[in-house]
Amino acid sequence: MTDFLRLAEDIAREAGDMLLAKRPTMSEEVETKSSPTDVVTALDTASEALIRERVLAARPGDRILGEEGGEQPGESDVRWIVDPIDGTVNFLYGLPDWAVSIAVEVNGRVVAGVVNVPVRGELYSAALGEGAWLGGERLRCNTGVPLAQALVATGFGYSVAKRTVQGQVVAAVLPRVRDIRRGGSCAIDLCSLAAGRVDAYYERGINAWDFAAAGLVATESGARLAGLNGRPVSPDFALCAAPGLFEELHDVLAPLDPERDA
Ligand code: IPD
Ligand code: CA
Repeated sequence: MTDFLRLAEDIAREAGDMLLAKRPTMSEEVETKSSPTDVVTALDTASEALIRERVLAARPGDRILGEEGGEQPGESDVRWIVDPIDGTVNFLYGLPDWAVSIAVEVNGRVVAGVVNVPVRGELYSAALGEGAWLGGERLRCNTGVPLAQALVATGFGYSVAKRTVQGQVVAAVLPRVRDIRRGGSCAIDLCSLAAGRVDAYYERGINAWDFAAAGLVATESGARLAGLNGRPVSPDFALCAAPGLFEELHDVLAPLDPERDA
């Protein structure tokens, strides 16, 4: 496990450094007249290519699932789950909250996770059963927070059918909680929960590469991460909070049927 974690940390650092160095400045974009979206798409692809190359150099035969390149088949019990840039829109706009996310799954269970937030200089990591860490600091999520005082992070998908319903759901949640945050990176939202910077997180439509690494950081900090009505976390729904708040928020969300399309 420690070997997995060290390797994932090294690779996430290298990808983060590359992205920081190659991040286009506004003046460069104007000079080259390239579309900022094109530059970001190219860097997404370059980051994932770097990660795949490093993983396979160290562990030939392992499987890799990445947001850009999809699933690479293999015989190994070990699968790496990679989001080369989570928070792409923040990255595009020069906002600080974007991350490189790398999880290691063995026989279908995530055993190690690393989320590197280069602009903030923060590296979150977790190993199954061994805790969650921000650098050298052990993370514990907030506990004992009632729903009415909870700071709740959420996010919105890219499709109109999803975000129409997400708008209705957040309108119903907002009057029941302290406030809502939309940070723009699922991975960072879950790490923020682990660090006590928000109390809860929910979102419909996130993928394994968004939540695999940060989900372990959150659960190892003491939070519960699951779907609605007793189902496991999945692209259908993710809800995360300390026990107690989890159930309170669940009972507000479930009757709203947040998994439907408009
Ligand atoms: C997105 C971010 C965002 C979430 C979206 C994701 P991307 O990932 O995690 O916070 O609301 O659902 O798709 O596109 O930046 O990798
Ligand atoms: Ca993502």
